[in-house]
Amino acid sequence: MLRVQPSENPLLSVLARKTVSPPPIWLMRQAGRYLPEYREVRGKVANFLDLCLNPKLAAEVTLQPLRRFQFDAAIVFSDILIVPYALGQKVEFVEGEGPRLEPVKDGKAVASLDRKAAGKALAAVYETIERVVTELPKTVPLIGFCGAPWTVATYMVEGGGSKDQAEARLLAYSAPATFERLIDLLVDVSADYLMQQVKAGARALQIFDSWAGSLPEDGFDRWCIAPTRQLVERVKAEAPGTPVIGFPRGAGLHAERYARETGVDAIGCDTSQPLGWIKDRLQALVPVQGNLDPVLLVAGGAALNRRVRAILAALASGPFIFNLGHGILPDTPVDHVARLVHLVRAGFA
Ligand code: CP3
Repeated sequence: MLRVQPSENPLLSVLARKTVSPPPIWLMRQAGRYLPEYREVRGKVANFLDLCLNPKLAAEVTLQPLRRFQFDAAIVFSDILIVPYALGQKVEFVEGEGPRLEPVKDGKAVASLDRKAAGKALAAVYETIERVVTELPKTVPLIGFCGAPWTVATYMVEGGGSKDQAEARLLAYSAPATFERLIDLLVDVSADYLMQQVKAGARALQIFDSWAGSLPEDGFDRWCIAPTRQLVERVKAEAPGTPVIGFPRGAGLHAERYARETGVDAIGCDTSQPLGWIKDRLQALVPVQGNLDPVLLVAGGAALNRRVRAILAALASGPFIFNLGHGILPDTPVDHVARLVHLVRAGFA
């Protein structure tokens, strides 16, 4: 195996299947409420979506964590639900509750989504990317992203987050043709969205499938693997060379087929997946990313040290990107994040 040290661009090197030591690190949701400077900018706008749609402020909050922690990647500040918003669905973020959408429950509601208008709202994200990339050193790529069609569809059908995505599964079982139209629409608009992010300067992409874990085997094939494969194929056809990280959270044993069958260049692992299994079954196929428990980063202390050491011992001898197993939590102490970056970069001294 190729060993690169020091690397010109640690994250892109790993995505090209190289082993980089120390491994690159970035954190999902690295821009956010745990940072006082984020809360300050957030206080300037009434709604969370206004922040996503304001390229100047969105670029600023994208760069904030990079200034503090020197992560190996930036991720554009936006949200996966900007896609339903761009399609004309009513989307709002309610303080203390999360996203609330006007539910899409039938064929008529799916047909009323406006594919042609979608480009307009998404243009703000491309401008954010253009602004951010002028500020980044060559060694730090910007990651563009979208939600996977399944996960975005669950929010669109349920009208928000839910504990088991039962409404979305019910629609998929009882009206598969209608659900498929929604998924196909999301594949199409998300593929364009990712391509435009690459054009604007994104050098890697991540597909967040946060609710992949609620699908049974056949549903996982049809609603997670197949649409993701289509998305990846479109990206590979139109922007060859742009690596894609897939994050099928909660996929459990399905993750192995996801890594084989979707065409992703790397797979994000969640907190529940055993390190030995990740190494043997996933890292043998593609570079892996993950999977520290975000709650352990809140806790800090000796338990954090132990777990970081265990993750590095299991995975850092192959192509590996250090990350959390899910997004960083708002009550994470800033100095625990600094400590984590130090542990990964400089060791345990
Ligand atoms: O990683 C980054 O720094 C980039 C920004 C980013 C956000 N959301 C900003 C955000 C990214 C990559 C996302 C992805 C996202 N959004 C996912 C997939 C990852 C995951 O967490 O599973 C999902 C499911 C969403 C939908 C979403 N957005 C929810 C459920 C919520 C409410 C929960 C919460 O944390 O408040 C959001 C809001 C949101 N997205 C915030 C941020 C910083 C907080 C809102 C605020 O600051 O007022």
